[in-house]
Amino acid sequence: MGRSSKDRRDVYYRLAKEQGWRARSAFKLLQLDTQFDLFSGVKKVVDLCAAPGSWSQVLQRKLKPQEDEDVKVVAVDLQAMAPLDGIIQMQGDITKESTATAIVDHFEGEKADLVICDGAPDVTGLHDIDEYVQAQLLLAALNITTHVLKPGGTFVAKACEMKRTTALGETDVVVPAHAPSQPSSSSSSAQQQQQQQQDEADDVEAVQEELNVVSL
Ligand SMILES: C[S@@+](CC[C@H](N)C(=O)[O-])C[C@H]1O[C@@H](n2cnc3c(N)ncnc32)[C@H](O)[C@@H]1O
Repeated sequence: MGRSSKDRRDVYYRLAKEQGWRARSAFKLLQLDTQFDLFSGVKKVVDLCAAPGSWSQVLQRKLKPQEDEDVKVVAVDLQAMAPLDGIIQMQGDITKESTATAIVDHFEGEKADLVICDGAPDVTGLHDIDEYVQAQLLLAALNITTHVLKPGGTFVAKACEMKRTTALGETDVVVPAHAPSQPSSSSSSAQQQQQQQQDEADDVEAVQEELNVVSL
C-alpha cells in the first residue's frame, strides 16, 4: 500500500526536526531547487511570508548572507520570527502598501534575483473566502515582485489550485517559465492543505518552544 499524505508529512516532520529546519516546508524549497536550480548565481532574495523561517534557513545555508556581504536576503511575515544570522527581517502584512513600500525601500534601488512566497492565510473553512484571501496574498506577492525583481529573475510562490490562480497564470504580468510543480513534501487538496496548516502551526509552536520564543 502506498504512503498516505499523513505518513509523508510525518516523515518530513521528523526529518525537519533531525536536520534542524524550523518547519518541514524547507523540503519544498529544497525540492524545487533540485528541480529548477533556483539558487545558481543568486545574490539578492525576498522571502515573503517567511515565518517561522525554514525557507530563510534554506537561503541562509545555500547563499550564506552571514558570510558574503554581496548577498542580501529580506524576510517578511505578519508574525515575528526568531532571528537568523545574515537574514534581514521585517514584520508586516504583505497586502498592505506600507509593507510593500518598506520591502522595496530595503532594496534601495537594487533588484532581487529571486522572490519566494510561501504565504498561507488563516483558513476559515469557508472555501470561497479562503480561496479569495489566498488569491489576494498571491497578488500582493506578485505586486511586490513587480517592483523588486530584476528582469529575468525568478518568482516562486505557493498557489492552491483555484479559478483565480489559473486566471493569474494567464495574465501578461506573469510569464510562466515553468509548469506548476508540486513537491512531494507538499499536500494537494484544500482539506489536506487545511490539515497541513494545522500541522505547520504545530511546527511553529514546537519551534517556538525550542527557541524560547514568545508569540506576540
Ligand atoms: C506556511 S507559513 C510559511 C512557512 C515559511 N515559508 C517557512 O518555511 O517557515 C505561511 C506564513 O504566511 C504568513 N502570512 C499570511 N498572510 C500574510 C500576510 N498578509 N503578510 C505577511 N505574512 C503573511 C503567516 O503569518 C505564516 O507565517
